[in-house]
Amino acid sequence: MNIIQVQDYEEMSEQGAEFLFREIMSGRSKVIGLATGGTPVGLYKHLVEKINANEVSLTDVHTVNLDEYIGLSDDHPNSYHQYMFQNLFQYIDIPSANRHLPSGTAADFSEECRRYERLIQQLGGVDTQLLGIGANGHIAFNEPGSPFDGRTRVVDLAPATIEANSRYFNEGETVPSQAVTMGIGTIMESGRIVMIASGKEKAAAVKEMLTGEVTEDCPATVLQKHDDVTLIADAEALSEIDVKNIQ
Ligand code: PGA
Repeated sequence: MNIIQVQDYEEMSEQGAEFLFREIMSGRSKVIGLATGGTPVGLYKHLVEKINANEVSLTDVHTVNLDEYIGLSDDHPNSYHQYMFQNLFQYIDIPSANRHLPSGTAADFSEECRRYERLIQQLGGVDTQLLGIGANGHIAFNEPGSPFDGRTRVVDLAPATIEANSRYFNEGETVPSQAVTMGIGTIMESGRIVMIASGKEKAAAVKEMLTGEVTEDCPATVLQKHDDVTLIADAEALSEIDVKNIQ
């Protein structure tokens, strides 16, 4: 794994945006897998600045998001559809038909999961996938114990994940307990993966991912088996390992 060590959240965001920007500009990546959560917010801000400063048109780019909460409509303020609109899509010219997320309100979720897998295949697969990491080692909503060959499916969120995400919901509002997520098998088929990590609460998971046994108990360890992964992580996220001994 290629590890880019940075100082802090701001530098991680800038470097992560630069990574995706270069992928897009080179024409290498036409299908970009996107992530949500607290970590990528700064990355998207920098990406928008770079795209607009360089007057880049993205009309031939497709985006494919990792996941969506079950029970939240596309226009719910806490849905990942809204997150993507607020943080990225409203500022750039990727056509709405090219922005793909699973639906959180499908009538038939089995069919929705199959549709999403088909869609990714029809696009020719994800060229570059952006990932965050959960403090419990999850990637997308693939919680500990998720199968390495899993495809897009409905999952129950781990109590720790529900707790971590409750900060985005108003008091009294129910935090969704299920989601549709790309599976680990789906994610591993991406041509290139870039993971961003910031903060000491991610340090143990980052250490496990880089140095631990490859096991479904810590989903991110599967990335040791992918041959094109770049981790951009700040000092706190890397505080439990000696990077020199890994590379
Ligand atoms: P976070 O989530 O960016 O909100 O910490 C990352 C993740 O759970 O993948």
